[in-house]
Amino acid sequence: MLKWMRRTCAMEQACLEEGLRSRSEVASEGASYVNPHEPRLSEALHIALDQWQEHLSSPLRALDLACGSGEATLALEAWLEKTQTGAMEPVLEAADPYTFEAFERRVGRRCHHWSFQDVADGVLEEEPIYDLVLCSFALHLLERSWLTCTVSSLARRARLLVVATPHKRPLIERKTGWEQVAEVLHARVRVRYGASPMVRFQNPLDAVTLADAMPTVCRCNSAG
Ligand SMILES: C[S@@+](CC[C@H](N)C(=O)[O-])C[C@H]1O[C@@H](n2cnc3c(N)ncnc32)[C@H](O)[C@@H]1O
Repeated sequence: MLKWMRRTCAMEQACLEEGLRSRSEVASEGASYVNPHEPRLSEALHIALDQWQEHLSSPLRALDLACGSGEATLALEAWLEKTQTGAMEPVLEAADPYTFEAFERRVGRRCHHWSFQDVADGVLEEEPIYDLVLCSFALHLLERSWLTCTVSSLARRARLLVVATPHKRPLIERKTGWEQVAEVLHARVRVRYGASPMVRFQNPLDAVTLADAMPTVCRCNSAG
């Protein structure tokens, strides 16, 4: 228990401390998660993706991180159906340590149980490079040191990062490996798009070689 508590981040901790709920209790609430702002989130993502279309490779290999019940995945899927008729099938993966059941029920596909901490600890090092990681309405909740570790790890394993947020946060610093390229603001949803120069090649094998040559920027072992 102590070991696991040390590995939690502020966001997760806040969920757990309230009434000293167990991880499984938080997870069972997660099973019924829905985002009340989904319509405007979806519109904002569509507007952003329309603008950035030329930067997305096809077929797309994407990960929806902290996926909730699939809000961003479903928006991306609808956008791909609209824009990429006849293109090769995309690979759309998702991960959430709490809402994976809600995602699986709604979207009908399996969901990884990875948390931000798992990503910071390098869980994606075993996976092929992603063209795109989407993180919607979640990174702004992450405490700063975890944010740095998580997005630094992502910069080694993904070419593009699209972050949707109802705030100005998160601030993703260049030292993490991400260069912010563009931003769209629609109905108070901000969608930002960053590129990782560490993963500049489209060919996943080349990309692995380049990212492996770069040091992991940091490791987080505690919430501090
Ligand atoms: C506000 S919801 C956003 C969900 C969805 N992406 C959306 O746009 O509606 C925040 C999400 O972060 C997830 N989450 C909480 N703690 C997490 C952690 N430590 N690692 C990864 N995801 C976490 C929650 O399970 C929840 O799905």
